[in-house]
Amino acid sequence: MAELRSRRSNLAVPGSNPRFLEKAKGLPADQVFLDLEDACAPLAKPAARKNVVAALNEGGWGEKVRAVRVNDWTTEWTHTDVIEVVGGAGAELDCLVLPKVAGAAQVQALDLLLTQVEKASGLEVGRIGIEAQIETAQGLADVHGIAAASPRVETLVFGPADFMASIGMRSLVVGGLHPDYPGDPLHSVLVQILVAARANGVQAIDGPFLQVRDVPAFTAAARRSAMLGFDGKWVLHPDQIAAANEVYSPAQEDYDHAELILDAYAWATSDAGGRKGSAMLGDEMIDEASRKMALVVAGKGRAAGM
Ligand code: GLV
Ligand code: MG
Repeated sequence: MAELRSRRSNLAVPGSNPRFLEKAKGLPADQVFLDLEDACAPLAKPAARKNVVAALNEGGWGEKVRAVRVNDWTTEWTHTDVIEVVGGAGAELDCLVLPKVAGAAQVQALDLLLTQVEKASGLEVGRIGIEAQIETAQGLADVHGIAAASPRVETLVFGPADFMASIGMRSLVVGGLHPDYPGDPLHSVLVQILVAARANGVQAIDGPFLQVRDVPAFTAAARRSAMLGFDGKWVLHPDQIAAANEVYSPAQEDYDHAELILDAYAWATSDAGGRKGSAMLGDEMIDEASRKMALVVAGKGRAAGM
């Protein structure tokens, strides 16, 4: 966990809107994804590709992870998206987001195409990562295969809007609770994505919350997935960024405590500490499992610059 990039807030920016692309550079999101998919109308896609290439090449993104969401493989656009964006700005791009991933083969297809475009453009082969959106019944059915499909996969990203449509969920509330359901109707989906991500050493990113003016409701949804273990969440509006950055960072108190556990356990298991298997930290017994849990919290805090 400690080496993975911080992705607490993943800001969606429509590739068709040069003003939003410019504005996004100055916002404090950990990651931006410049969208060529659902935020761009079909006729706007050719111009959006050019806007995205120009915005990446202009720079000014600071430490942000720079991603572009291409169109899914059932459209006629994916190959042109990859060739134009990676061919035009591959050196300034960290990841491609692949939407509506239906199975491992779709990730492998993107990996192969990326490799060709990297070679043809003189780029380092394999540097650009893939973020796989799990947002259909087929995608969830093959979520482990998708996570393991390529060493390029860096994250699994939940897409609640498409997912709810795909399974026929009778709700229009995306990412929130519903009065007809006791608890979070998407809980089991989140856990399946999280387990597949962790089993394959990749990050798990929660999807968008569409009621963009209701920051308290966004925060509540973010707290639920952060508590499970998710690393971050999509944000659609600048107001959601600070909330996501806070929710997906460990509390300062928890971070400090995690570092303390790591120090105490490292001492107890060292020669000088007597090579013990477990130790006491105040009134708390700590052992190898405590070290692993502490490493998760400390890793998230270190990635967030705590
Ligand atoms: C995001 O792409 C979603 O479908 O929720
Ligand atoms: Mg979607």
